[in-house]
Amino acid sequence: MKSALLAISFLAVGCIAEEGINLKQHPNILFLVADDLRPFLGTYKNDQMAITPNLDKLAKKSAQFNAAYAQQALCAPSRNSFLTSRRPDTLKLYDFYSYWRNFAGNFTTLPQYLKSHGYHTVSVGKIFHPGISSNFSDDYPHSWSQKPFHPKSEEFKDAKVCSSLDDEKLHRNIVCPVEISKMPGNTLPDIETAQFAIDFLRQRASSSTGVTTPFFLAVGFHKPHIPLKFPKEFSDLYPIENVTLTKHSERPLGYPTVAWNSWLDLRKREDVNNLHLKFPYEPVPDTFAKRIRQAYFASTSYIDHLVGQLLDELSMSKSMASNTIIVFFGDHGWSLGELGEWAKYSNQEAALRVPLILHIPGITDHTPEQIDAPVELLDIFPTLVEAVGLERMPECPSESRISRQVTFCTEGRSLLKLMRGLEKQSKGETIAAAAFSQYPRPGAKPTLRPNSDEPRLRQIQVMGYSVRVPGFRYTEWVRFNPKVFAANWTAVVDVELYDLLRDPDGVVNRAFDMKFAGVRAKPYAKKILKKVNEWLVCAIYLSSSDTY
Ligand SMILES: *[C@@H]1O[C@H](CO)[C@@H](O)[C@H](O)[C@H]1NC(C)=O
Ligand SMILES: *[C@@H]1O[C@H](CO)[C@@H](O)[C@H](O)[C@H]1NC(C)=O
Ligand SMILES: *[C@@H]1O[C@H](CO)[C@@H](O)[C@H](O)[C@H]1NC(C)=O
Ligand SMILES: *[C@@H]1O[C@H](CO)[C@@H](O)[C@H](O)[C@H]1NC(C)=O
Repeated sequence: MKSALLAISFLAVGCIAEEGINLKQHPNILFLVADDLRPFLGTYKNDQMAITPNLDKLAKKSAQFNAAYAQQALCAPSRNSFLTSRRPDTLKLYDFYSYWRNFAGNFTTLPQYLKSHGYHTVSVGKIFHPGISSNFSDDYPHSWSQKPFHPKSEEFKDAKVCSSLDDEKLHRNIVCPVEISKMPGNTLPDIETAQFAIDFLRQRASSSTGVTTPFFLAVGFHKPHIPLKFPKEFSDLYPIENVTLTKHSERPLGYPTVAWNSWLDLRKREDVNNLHLKFPYEPVPDTFAKRIRQAYFASTSYIDHLVGQLLDELSMSKSMASNTIIVFFGDHGWSLGELGEWAKYSNQEAALRVPLILHIPGITDHTPEQIDAPVELLDIFPTLVEAVGLERMPECPSESRISRQVTFCTEGRSLLKLMRGLEKQSKGETIAAAAFSQYPRPGAKPTLRPNSDEPRLRQIQVMGYSVRVPGFRYTEWVRFNPKVFAANWTAVVDVELYDLLRDPDGVVNRAFDMKFAGVRAKPYAKKILKKVNEWLVCAIYLSSSDTY
């Protein structure tokens, strides 16, 4: 602990450097994001089956956050949120079809801020969501010092290349083990991405004399996003007879229809389509569920392998490794059959929870930690800013919800204090120990058209606000007006409350249980509320009261 404190004060020196006394270069940052990755890593002990030696090794010299949550279980909104440190409700981007600078405000991103403070910032693979949501440029040149790199083989990402157990033909499947030598260009996108990043690190290491600008190297892996396409040898790690199902693989009786996501993206795949499952509730048969799980685990091990290559390259240069912060996380989770659910698109624990591992040289290698308090992906931006010794980010003023003028602020918090065990966990201070997420729906029931998994902005009629505090998840689905972006808190569509200590999969909805009646009364609303939203109140109530 003592050494950690010393090291933190050492980092604070960087802060002075920023103000003019150039004592020490700011550390580099290696920023690693995996697409749709839930904490199925070996180092996250409560989950089964993943073999991830490289990430486990990284976690041993890092702070590992055991309760990290995405702000929305969809790629573009989640990425917009953590890259600007603002909530989806602030950005008002719940879909893929708008660019925040035009739509919400000219908000400063993490790479943009670092770039403006002398960093060389590089985007490799998927960091911003591509397309219109980042102005068809990954927000270049605002965020990046050089043109973002995209792997060439990305153009084949949806190609018919998956072999099948049933015939000799190639398919557009979700389960997609491949032989790399038979792929276009003899490669896969994530392999190209890792190689580009490795080359960057190698060049930096060899030309380190004279190079004084620190780097921010952001590397975004596509897997385990579907299709679950991976070099087929990775499935050998998981013999199918050893793959298990989740404990609760059926949709509970009375599970709110508004909460259900119908995994429409899976249904579009040939192998799932061939099962002829009735929309929206017919379950995936066990034998196929195991094959999806096997492919997800294999894809996770494949990404672990590539991250291992990258970290090995970094460690070849001792001076670079000792001056490079590493953060690894998933952009949101993915249900793997829990309660009959698959994919993202929901407020389920499995869809929102992500791995988050933060390595700060000189600090976490001496005192690795496991942190159980809930944290949010939008905390990453202010945490990195503080960790590299730049001036702390101001909190967003509450009126920033309607103001486009405040372009640099955070709706999260730096996690450094939490890491050092200095954050108060007393009853009065429980606001920080909560993670907020949300998910929009076009109506109260699952529909094909509009697609209730991915409603477009104008189709949104209901918003599900979810808060995670130690032991509980509470979700309120309320009517939402997409013209003025307003939730109507008196028009409640459905409510969910899960006691996750006793019921980790959230099988029994206790929202209408008399024991929990107080939760719905929201008695503290206006009084305590300073930050975020009215639903914060539930968090305070839940974590400070003896509900039993
Ligand atoms: C948005 O911010 C960037 C960087 O701070 C600046 O260069 C640009 O002029 C701004 N655009 C508008 C429309 O204000
Ligand atoms: C978005 O892209 C267009 C076309 O390249 C460009 O003219 C515009 O300036 C970009 N917007 C911003 C905010 O950079
Ligand atoms: C599969 O399960 C069997 C029986 O439990 C075990 O002996 C074997 O080591 C397992 N194989 C793998 C690769 O985990
Ligand atoms: C909110 O919902 C309530 C109850 O359905 C309704 O009476 C009220 O008019 C709604 N308010 C707005 C602003 O739509």
